[in-house]
Amino acid sequence: MNGNDASMKGKGGRLVIAVDGPAASGKGTLARRLAAHYGLPYLDTGLLYRMVARAMLDDDRDIHDAAAAEHVVASFDQSGFAEETLRGREIGEAASVVAAMPAVRKGLIERQRSFAAQPQGAVLDGRDIGTVICPDAPAKLFVTATPEVRAARRHKELAGRGEAATFEGILADIRRRDARDSGRSDAPLKAAEDAVILDTSALTVEEAVVAAITIVNARRAG
Ligand code: CDP
Repeated sequence: MNGNDASMKGKGGRLVIAVDGPAASGKGTLARRLAAHYGLPYLDTGLLYRMVARAMLDDDRDIHDAAAAEHVVASFDQSGFAEETLRGREIGEAASVVAAMPAVRKGLIERQRSFAAQPQGAVLDGRDIGTVICPDAPAKLFVTATPEVRAARRHKELAGRGEAATFEGILADIRRRDARDSGRSDAPLKAAEDAVILDTSALTVEEAVVAAITIVNARRAG
């Protein structure tokens, strides 16, 4: 953190940063780094949808059963899930199915908004943070990259966790998820009008972090 950012925070400024973007665009890494840089709490909202999907699968429910999903959302306890059971490929796919259900989205809005309402602010990443959850956030980033670059990143991530999958299979997953996330009627994946689009296709993680901090600082100053 540099002195300038610390002093801006010290003046009592509350800061909410919305980070949206498609699967494996690097938004989670960037959001985590922004949270550390500005000293803010961080919420990966994708995990909430992954928890709903996990609870459905653990209960042997049909993942397309909207009534069962609504029931799960109303009663689930976030502390009951280990993160490593949520990060797999199958859960990502199932999460995007339940995330298209309006009752699921509605049931998760309050948790996300109350996280963002913390006194110092927060960083949230997802698909609809800038458009639906925190439309008044002063700093909004829409992080993107080509499907091929995203598939290569996800391939490396899954291989690192011992989950075998081909590059082609992951690319197909990513294209299918993009279509489902962008095509749904409730809170589709899209950049807010006042979001800054950050294409990370040709950037290293460090370059993307610098670019993201520059964007947020410009928004805070403006
Ligand atoms: O890491 P990755 O981008 O693959 O997935 P994620 O961010 O954990 O999100 C998993 C799925 O949850 C996405 O494909 C979306 O369908 C859904 N999601 C959403 O609809 N809204 C959010 N705010 C976050 C995730």
